[in-house]
Amino acid sequence: MSVFLLSRGTVVAPAGPLKTSDSKQSRPSSACRSSLASESLSVLKRQVVARANGGANAVRHETAMKGEGKFIVGGNWKCNGTTESIAQLISDLNAGTITKDLEVVCAPPFVYLAQTQASLGPPFEIAAQNVWTGAGGAYTGEISADMIKDLGINWTITGHSERRALCGESNEIVAEKTAYALSLGLKVIVCIGESLEERQNGSTLAVCCAQLKAVAEVVSDWSNIVIAYEPIWAIGTGVVATPEQAQETHAGIRKWLAAAVSPEVASKMRIQYGGSVNAGNCDVLAQQDDIDGFLVGGASLQGDSFITICNSAV
Ligand code: PGA
Repeated sequence: MSVFLLSRGTVVAPAGPLKTSDSKQSRPSSACRSSLASESLSVLKRQVVARANGGANAVRHETAMKGEGKFIVGGNWKCNGTTESIAQLISDLNAGTITKDLEVVCAPPFVYLAQTQASLGPPFEIAAQNVWTGAGGAYTGEISADMIKDLGINWTITGHSERRALCGESNEIVAEKTAYALSLGLKVIVCIGESLEERQNGSTLAVCCAQLKAVAEVVSDWSNIVIAYEPIWAIGTGVVATPEQAQETHAGIRKWLAAAVSPEVASKMRIQYGGSVNAGNCDVLAQQDDIDGFLVGGASLQGDSFITICNSAV
């Protein structure tokens, strides 16, 4: 990603058009993009009015397209930590002051789930980072959603791009995992997102919508799903999507949901942004109308940064 480094610590997100191959949703063009831009402008105006009328909370309720429910922040600890470092992180999180009414879900590595459960207090909830596609059995090294449920854990992540890329999880496998976890009553953060090449060749929305289409083929009730839009080029790179890029993609995802699933699911869906979110960039991202939360990797390993990100909730 050094191509985007302008100078030490200064990074820019890659430019790239959004497109989808779905004819119902196709945004051929600049016409569509400029309509999104003017939509954003009117949203901004409504936000200003809403702020004047009742503060930050009013903003989310004043706007037309937004997820329903609380802002939701996930901490994806990935394959990091030791018993000692996790104890320290949990102690920092417990000591932090969360000033906002939001949902917060931390996803430790499997082997530290019990430790985390025993020591992480409210409002923090706990998620698995992954589950198997179905019930348990002869699947060496895997963890089933049944086991997560058995532990009393209510959440799992599915489809993280690292699992898609490194473990060969296809859209269909991710959809199967998601459907099975939902069938047991778990809540699922489904991750989607495009590569740098896909953004640059204009297929961002086509990729994201294909990932969601696989889910739509096997899931009918979306009420326990949260979507995490995580552009791969932004994950762990320090190259965060610009607020405009994130907002435009989130709005495109919501439009696709409205057409392909239902307007109701689209308007209720919480869509998190993930990819190099940190304590310094969270506020401006959180203020985007279609950003309903974050999925945070690196910065979730630092208690104070993660608390700051939680407190950016609008
Ligand atoms: P990052 O990771 O915040 O370190 O970019 C995000 C994620 O992978 O969920």
